[in-house]
Amino acid sequence: MSNAARILNPTLRSKIMSAAEAAALIPPGANVGMSGFTGAGYPKAVPLALAQRIEAAHARGEPFRVGVWTGASTAPELDGALAKVNGCAMRLPYQSDPICRKQINSGEMEYTDIHLSHVAQYAWFGFLGKLDVAVVEVAAVLEDGRLVPANSIGNNKTWLDQADKIILEVNSWVNLGLDGMHDIYYGTRRPPDRRPVPINNPGDRIGDRYYNVDLSKVVGVIETNSADRNTPFTPADVNSKRIAGHILEFLEHEVKRGRLPRGMLPLQSGVGNVANAVLSGLIDGPFEDLTSYTEVLQDGMLDLIKAGKMRFASATAVSLSPEAALEFNQNAAEFKKSVILRPQEISNHPEVIRRLGIIAMNGLIEADIYGNVNSTHIAGTSIMNGIGGSGDFARNAFLSIFMTPSTAKNGAISCIVPMVTHVDHTEHDVHVIVTEQGLADLRGLSPKQRAKVVIENCAHPDYKPALHEYFSRALESSPGRHTPHLLNEAFSFLPEWRANQMKSAAE
Ligand code: COA
Repeated sequence: MSNAARILNPTLRSKIMSAAEAAALIPPGANVGMSGFTGAGYPKAVPLALAQRIEAAHARGEPFRVGVWTGASTAPELDGALAKVNGCAMRLPYQSDPICRKQINSGEMEYTDIHLSHVAQYAWFGFLGKLDVAVVEVAAVLEDGRLVPANSIGNNKTWLDQADKIILEVNSWVNLGLDGMHDIYYGTRRPPDRRPVPINNPGDRIGDRYYNVDLSKVVGVIETNSADRNTPFTPADVNSKRIAGHILEFLEHEVKRGRLPRGMLPLQSGVGNVANAVLSGLIDGPFEDLTSYTEVLQDGMLDLIKAGKMRFASATAVSLSPEAALEFNQNAAEFKKSVILRPQEISNHPEVIRRLGIIAMNGLIEADIYGNVNSTHIAGTSIMNGIGGSGDFARNAFLSIFMTPSTAKNGAISCIVPMVTHVDHTEHDVHVIVTEQGLADLRGLSPKQRAKVVIENCAHPDYKPALHEYFSRALESSPGRHTPHLLNEAFSFLPEWRANQMKSAAE
């Protein structure tokens, strides 16, 4: 179907224009709320045109930068393009783009790393300032002006509601078979008028299938035909398979102990190799009738649905390999029987996560012997991506699992350390830590009990003796013995710390 046939509303049809014309409607200094979540449903044309406009302005010596708010990470055509021309002054709430990351860490770009479930309410509370423009990709415009969402929802409802001006990109690549997959909840309120979010099962529908929009705010409609950017699927490596193996064994054990039902509880899993390896492992496992209440739909979940092992998956976006994305797009009408896409304030809602009793599985950068987890910072000062939804899920999950290879950078860095250099998830929110070495079940343990299990079960053999040694010396000479630490060497596992020590010894 052509784009024109997808833009049925006459008012919006009269606003069709080029991406360059639309970009010209975004003034310097504007806050722009863009669609997009892990490479799905981001605007494909306007950000590139905006980047060109910014570059031209800079060439003329005119200042031009914007604030960019999204659902989560986007794609090189959005984050990369704007960062490359130094066009983004402020970014929120999550990114994973290398150019963007470099600018944040060099101090050129401000970045606010926010729990993904909080973003919409922050916007409604007025904590983020004014939203000037929304640029949102949709699959179609209905005759009455309502919008058919595309492959991610993220914060789109909030951006459409809150922005002064709206620019729509209608992407005819998106198969309209997905019409009906979405559930846009219009029942959120500010306190004290809040009511329970009435989701009791991952498959419950509580909202509308379309976005409602004030047509008078729409200033431009752009036609596109572009596939989403998706991360290529890399087959699981040995470590990922081992981590997955430990988790599956643990889950089976929990079922045998009667702490989990046979069909388990709804699964949430972060993106990446390890997560996909766990999901792949479930295909051959003993579990049936699985469900998922998660942030992103991954290849592994699609495989589980196709294998008849997963009954239902609720997410805010699809995050698939190019092959799986194509399959999903071609068979959208079939997949919508078992997939719902919701706004991220609902997919990640703490109340719903707690009620459903989610099994959360997320990655980490480093964990300390007491169970605190750093998901975001390298060596305490440089951001990697952001907290994303990991905190929404970890804090409220029935079971909060964090997973990582035991070392990074070919063994040069231990991911199990005495004290994390930055804390995203405190010891109170981390139930289980898993590496390829083994699994530490920290539930109900005191800090000192946790330290022993984490070191023994999770640390790499190259680092285990040093960690044991640190812990036993801390036990002897720490001023407080509840969480024993040697604060002058708590970061001694950092290559930077070691380099500094050697430098000062030589001086
Ligand atoms: N010190 C230095 N670098 C480290 C490190 C450490 N302790 N641990 C990991 N890294 C580096 C890796 O070497 C790799 O670097 P590279 O990109 O240059 O190769 C990078 O961090 C990513 O690590 P990797 O082992 O490939 O894991 P991953 O892709 O699973 O990512 C996180 C791990 C923590 C970065 C990722 O899970 C994340 O961003 N989490 C926060 C958001 C989140 O959890 N979202 C899901 C919620 S729905």
